[in-house]
Amino acid sequence: MPLRIAHIGAGEWSRYAHGPTLQRLAERSVVSLELICDLQLERARQFSDLFHYHRASDNIHQMLAEVRPDAIVCTVQPSATAELVRSMLPLQIPLFIEKPPGVSLVEATSLATASVATGTFVAFNRRSIP
Ligand SMILES: NC(=O)c1ccc[n+]([C@@H]2O[C@H](COP(=O)([O-])OP(=O)(O)OC[C@H]3O[C@@H](n4cnc5c(N)ncnc54)[C@H](O)[C@@H]3O)[C@@H](O)[C@H]2O)c1
Repeated sequence: MPLRIAHIGAGEWSRYAHGPTLQRLAERSVVSLELICDLQLERARQFSDLFHYHRASDNIHQMLAEVRPDAIVCTVQPSATAELVRSMLPLQIPLFIEKPPGVSLVEATSLATASVATGTFVAFNRRSIP
């Protein structure tokens, strides 16, 4: 069964890296691209058309409750990452997030602590880069 993915953040980097990669995985039935969300709905729609997601939305929490994905890919800008990821931890859906996991060491450490406390797995792109 393909891993059902919800993706949040249809920005420039996602257009360059994550969208094409996820699309290739979807073509091989490794993943199923259930949902792309962005606060800018038009951006989400264009991203969906480009990489063939099933749905596009600007309402993350409502759509996550409806779709119940197996994993969430979060590629929003750094200033939004920690708060958004923290808000999703109670769902206990594994996340893959972009760097950095916070705009300060305090924010990043606090997010790591919250992820352990909720038991929600948060994978981090390029964790070995300072
Ligand atoms: N690994 C790398 O080499 C590499 C390279 C470039 C960027 N990045 C990282 O990728 C991430 C994305 O960068 P980008 O250039 O695509 O950013 P971007 O600003 O172009 O796009 C971010 C998108 O996230 C959306 N967004 C923000 N908060 C949201 C929310 N709460 N819900 C839904 N959507 C929301 C914004 O509307 C925007 O469209 C950043 O964390 C950046 O550091 C990594």
